[in-house]
Amino acid sequence: MDVIEAMETLNACRHYKKDPVSDQLVAKVLNSARWAATGSNNQPVTYVVVRDAAKRRAIHDLYQPIWDMVIKKYASGEIKSGFAPKFLANVDHFARHLADVPVMIVVCARWQDLTALDSNLGRTVLTPGSSIYPAVQNIMLAARSEGLGTVLTTLLVLSENEIKRLLNIPDELATAAVITLGWPEKPFPKKLRRKPLGEVAFLDSYGATLPEAGKYA
Ligand SMILES: Cc1cc2nc3c(=O)[nH]c(=O)nc-3n(C[C@H](O)[C@H](O)[C@H](O)COP(=O)(O)O)c2cc1C
Repeated sequence: MDVIEAMETLNACRHYKKDPVSDQLVAKVLNSARWAATGSNNQPVTYVVVRDAAKRRAIHDLYQPIWDMVIKKYASGEIKSGFAPKFLANVDHFARHLADVPVMIVVCARWQDLTALDSNLGRTVLTPGSSIYPAVQNIMLAARSEGLGTVLTTLLVLSENEIKRLLNIPDELATAAVITLGWPEKPFPKKLRRKPLGEVAFLDSYGATLPEAGKYA
């Protein structure tokens, strides 16, 4: 599959078949992560592939209360979402059926190797994740090219200690994401809902029109 087509159709897959994913495919998809860039090439990211049904159930049992808390905040207006009911129904379905997704990939990182260049700027720190998420995107693109669906989830970071205990993850590692992996129940979308290029990319000065951007809406 052409890499551009993979990017254009890489959605959050929230409905999965129960069919297994072979060891060969899991290893092939994860191998793509090795090629991702990391700061100073220090390669701080490691992965635990979770297939064991009891462990997937335990991960679900950690995820569900977090999601329930989030959806309650949306419902009460404490968090403004603007999400369509269909979107929330999909995310809710995903949470309730998480244990049935055949593969979960827990992304770990040696946090002491992640540099926070922007820690003194008085805003949310952005740079530490920059050595992690290129690898995550590679995994998801490789999965897409094999016809496999994924969701990048971060909510489970709220249960990091429990996940680490469950999977024997060493103290010096943090958990950065859990990627679900499986065969999609629904077709991939033809087009993702994203802002037009002209709204997000500029030339020479913020807000100034980028030539040709209007072609990509
Ligand atoms: C940083 C990040 C964290 C996310 N965390 C979660 C999550 O915890 N649970 C979840 O269901 N989806 C999660 N998502 C998926 C997003 O909701 C999804 O990518 C977004 O709504 C776009 O969906 P689409 O690609 O299907 O259009 C996350 C995505 C990103 C990039």
